[in-house]
Amino acid sequence: MAILVLGGAGYIGSHTVYELIAAGRDVVVADNLLTGFKAAVHPKARFYQLDIRERGALDTLFQAEKIEGVIHFAASSQVGESMSNPLKYYDNNLYGTMVLLQAMVAHGVDKIVFSSTAATYGEPERVPILETDKTVPTNCYGQTKLAMEHMMSWVSKAHGLKYVALRYFNACGAHPSGAIGEAHNPETHLIPLILQVPGGKREKISIFGDDYATHDGTCIRDYIHVSDLAQAHILALDYLLKGGDNNVFNLGNGVGFTVKEVIDVARKVTGHSIPAEICPRRAGDPAQLVASSEKARTVLGWKPQYDDLETIVATAWAWHKDHPNGYEG
Ligand code: UFG
Repeated sequence: MAILVLGGAGYIGSHTVYELIAAGRDVVVADNLLTGFKAAVHPKARFYQLDIRERGALDTLFQAEKIEGVIHFAASSQVGESMSNPLKYYDNNLYGTMVLLQAMVAHGVDKIVFSSTAATYGEPERVPILETDKTVPTNCYGQTKLAMEHMMSWVSKAHGLKYVALRYFNACGAHPSGAIGEAHNPETHLIPLILQVPGGKREKISIFGDDYATHDGTCIRDYIHVSDLAQAHILALDYLLKGGDNNVFNLGNGVGFTVKEVIDVARKVTGHSIPAEICPRRAGDPAQLVASSEKARTVLGWKPQYDDLETIVATAWAWHKDHPNGYEG
């Protein structure tokens, strides 16, 4: 039996496929390659280029492969874009997931682990954030991810599907082998943007606001290594395969760093002065997002290996230095 990874050519998906293959699992990857890269797909995975909104393509795949569980990363994930083009998010994230679940129900595939997000919480009432805290998304991206969680829950009641939603905090870093890493076009995330400065692609990094209620005025985030996220998906799928019930887990290190602190760590790792400029706040940024991941540690036995930001940034730097244009040349 194989594991189907949807969106397995994307950043977190490709790292999860690498961990699954390293663990000896049989892996099928499906991706429409709109934001993912064929070069990021592990050569030992069987690859289908398809869009999850195409029911016929999903039927063909489920008929050809014996799938015991699905890990679902296939979604749009840019907060800013979700505000200017919300219908794209309803189409890709919600309609796409609806078609996928219809196909899974039709083919008797009843276990799914999927990417949710810290953006489901919106402006948190307290940190660290617990899974039981209020979910009031402040952007359309977070809203569609929360709606995906609700969709799974209703489909579970009606059809017996079992799901785990993994609410990621700030994914970062790259595979320690240097084979795969983070590549978005356009890039919007802090760490790859900072590393573009020593990489010679950007003159300085913009700091979006230094008047937040934090110790240095810049936003605090919980940075978690992508390989640790990947491990959590495998643990979550095995939890379901062993009969575990529907569940939701936060995934973060439980430690927050300000934007200025992240830039300082990058200066240390790269040896570059990395000039920074204070800019206005970016709309919709909560001051602080830090996870309590106690539940994932206790229930899934998850133990992040990369709890040190310097090591995390060093893995990202190793990838970006060798791949200044990501997978494209
Ligand atoms: N930032 C800057 N300058 C930049 C880019 C980012 O100061 O050039 C700041 C942001 O304002 C924010 C922090 O760096 O305070 C981190 O920003 P990212 O864009 O890297 O990440 P976000 O925290 O905004 O977003 C991440 C995920 C989203 C997810 C969100 C949950 O990328 O998918 O966490 O809130 F929705």
